Amino acid sequence: MAAVLMLVMLSGLTVAWADTPANCSWSQVAGLWEIHVGQGGNDNRLKCSGFSPVEVFQLNLLFPDVVLDEDGNKGFWTMIYNQGFEMVINQRKYFAFSSYIQEGGVYKSFCNTTFAGWSHDLLGNDWSCYYGIQLKSGVSDVDPVTTRLMPQVDQKWTDRNDTAFVKAINSAQRSWKAVTYPESHGSNMASMATFPQSYPSPVAMDEATRIAISHLPKEFDWRNVNGQNFVPEVREQGDGCGSCYAQVTATALESRIQIMTNNTLKVTMSPQDIVSCCEYSQGCLGGFPYLTAKYAQDFGMVEERCNPYHGHATPCMPYHADCRRYYAEDYHYIGGYYGASNEGLMMLELVKNGPITAGFQVYDDFRHYSSGIYIHTGLQNGWNPWKVTDHVAVFIGYGVDATSGEKYWIGQNTWGTDWGELGYFKIRRGTNEVNIESIGVAMTPIVPMP
Ligand SMILES: *[C@@H]1O[C@H](CO)[C@@H](O)[C@H](O)[C@H]1NC(C)=O
Ligand SMILES: *[C@@H]1O[C@H](CO)[C@@H](O)[C@H](O)[C@H]1NC(C)=O
Ligand SMILES: *[C@@H]1O[C@H](CO)[C@@H](O)[C@H](O)[C@H]1NC(C)=O
Ligand SMILES: *[C@@H]1O[C@H](CO)[C@@H](O)[C@H](O)[C@H]1NC(C)=O
Repeated sequence: MAAVLMLVMLSGLTVAWADTPANCSWSQVAGLWEIHVGQGGNDNRLKCSGFSPVEVFQLNLLFPDVVLDEDGNKGFWTMIYNQGFEMVINQRKYFAFSSYIQEGGVYKSFCNTTFAGWSHDLLGNDWSCYYGIQLKSGVSDVDPVTTRLMPQVDQKWTDRNDTAFVKAINSAQRSWKAVTYPESHGSNMASMATFPQSYPSPVAMDEATRIAISHLPKEFDWRNVNGQNFVPEVREQGDGCGSCYAQVTATALESRIQIMTNNTLKVTMSPQDIVSCCEYSQGCLGGFPYLTAKYAQDFGMVEERCNPYHGHATPCMPYHADCRRYYAEDYHYIGGYYGASNEGLMMLELVKNGPITAGFQVYDDFRHYSSGIYIHTGLQNGWNPWKVTDHVAVFIGYGVDATSGEKYWIGQNTWGTDWGELGYFKIRRGTNEVNIESIGVAMTPIVPMP
């Protein structure tokens, strides 16, 4: 629904959004909600636009992730970035995007209402539509958030000089090396979300986490665990499609299947399926790993051969009967809910269960990364109104530099093997560099029966 709505809204505009314009915060969404639910008994092919509610009840969204119904039954909720929220209570899940309108060249978010969203029982057998109306904010201010329209993404800003920029990066610091890439490299390869996000700060590490990470190895890399490689090949999202969120979810799912089966099952998932068919994201305009992992749970992912990557949006078509689906049993933000992540929890999840995805901010300098441990230099390449975009990568390991003692994460990017260290990069760990420790997502696949 949202994707379709977005495309309709976009068709008359010269603006390329990468996520929905909703910009809602935890404090705006928390509070008492009235939930209007449609007829149940549907499967996941249910379409929710224009449904009629048949039932109404109240849910109270409390700090930090607790939802209570009218009988005092307790459940879980989380924000999904600034886009909407998911609730799990009484054996059902509820997800909807926060609503927004366009008015005189600006979008206004209404964080006190949702668009039509999806509800289903935990097994996904019984689907219904719903929307939510906030009766009472948990916090006083429920004014609509105004989001200004922004110019089209256009990276060909006039006074940029890659040669000079790369030189400046390399003389400003010694932690990492920059190079010039061909025009296409990283230039338009946004993006998880074009709106600058307000990333939550990582939470402080508690004593239990400190103790737990003290037992972890100093260095860890899923490409070499006792000589075995559990990491699928580097993907290339291409210039014309902001599909990083789909690429990384595919890679994380594949890798975790390999880990769970000790490399006896290697499948290549189809990011194009997510781009074409997932209504929880916006195709080539962007999306979020949490919602893509939810798609893997609710609909399942198909193999690459069922819908090979085109690098542009294609209609969702039925698949051949032998295209089986691969599901996720669980997906969650590191730390449990949006805003509860930190370095230690990311390390524990990574070592215990496998690669995770994490969003971060891409500045001009990152696009030129070639080797070393990335630390944002603060330099920018000429005048560029789009100096920051949001991106997401798969994190497959971590370590400590032998010479400098600097701690780092090892990320697999989606810009092909010509970029960075054969498609990988290192980035400073422990300091929330470009918000890397703010919004990690983990998912657990269901290993299919042979
Ligand atoms: C949501 O908030 C807006 C702005 O404060 C207000 O005008 C509107 O009536 C609210 N909607 C509901 C359903 O309460
Ligand atoms: C979203 O809202 C936050 C405050 O809640 C604000 O700081 C941020 O600039 C907004 N983002 C956009 C793109 O409007
Ligand atoms: C770009 O910068 C390099 C190195 O500083 C300089 O030699 C070159 O002339 C510059 N090119 C343009 C088009 O400004
Ligand atoms: C996993 O696979 C490796 C390589 O084939 C093998 O040496 C090892 O014994 C296997 N481990 C288990 C637990 O089966």
